[in-house]
Amino acid sequence: MFISFEGLDFSGKSTQAKLLVEQLRQQRHTVHFIREPGGTVISEKIRDILLDKNHLEMSDAAEILLFSASRSQLVQQVIAPALQRGDVVVCDRYCDSTTAYQGYGRGLGLEDVQTINRFATGGTMPDLTILVDIPIEEIERRKTKAGLTFDRMESAGRAFYERVRQGYHQLAADDPGRWFRVDGMLSIETIQKEIRKAVEKKSAALAR
Ligand code: ADP
Ligand code: TYD
Repeated sequence: MFISFEGLDFSGKSTQAKLLVEQLRQQRHTVHFIREPGGTVISEKIRDILLDKNHLEMSDAAEILLFSASRSQLVQQVIAPALQRGDVVVCDRYCDSTTAYQGYGRGLGLEDVQTINRFATGGTMPDLTILVDIPIEEIERRKTKAGLTFDRMESAGRAFYERVRQGYHQLAADDPGRWFRVDGMLSIETIQKEIRKAVEKKSAALAR
């Protein structure tokens, strides 16, 4: 089974993905837990280029191609072989991030984005995508609370994040069989409970 987590920066995706992975491992599943961009030596190097605060001159085209290059390597080296063995793959972000951030956020043409995503992933798509949804104001609140500085992607403005969020809503509405939306303003425990229910439901459906 292939499960991806999506949402705005600071939505709580990583927290939830980690808790789910712990449970799946307790249930004796072999789980590959990957954070995008990253997950291979090459992909981690590309991640450093993408998030470097000094790279303000990066073009939108270079950006989408770098995210996609990182993903392509990850699919070929880690995700596809793991799925072939029947292992579980949990990804903190996948190509829906590219559609939401580069497509809706940066305003690149959605058809081009879809073509690039298909090329980079070779059509390997999650069985279940969990959208942890928070309002934009919450990003600021959590960022301040954690006392963090911005990386290059997080320096984008509020209007950008509004478009990204709308993009996620559109993606989820277009493919309700794959997407599960959960309210990221709930408590960590409540969100995790809902996610576990969605995973069990999907797992039962796949076994049928
Ligand atoms: P992401 O991976 O989406 O960037 P994280 O899981 O790293 O998000 O969480 C971002 C911040 O939000 C952390 O400081 C975390 O403690 C906090 N956080 C996570 N989930 C919740 C929640 N349900 N309610 C309030 N704060 C949360
Ligand atoms: P990261 O620090 O991993 O953020 P988060 O914890 O929110 O996942 O940084 C990843 C950043 O890159 C984040 O701002 C989202 C962005 N991103 C894209 O714009 N496109 C993509 O395809 C991916 C995978 C990430």
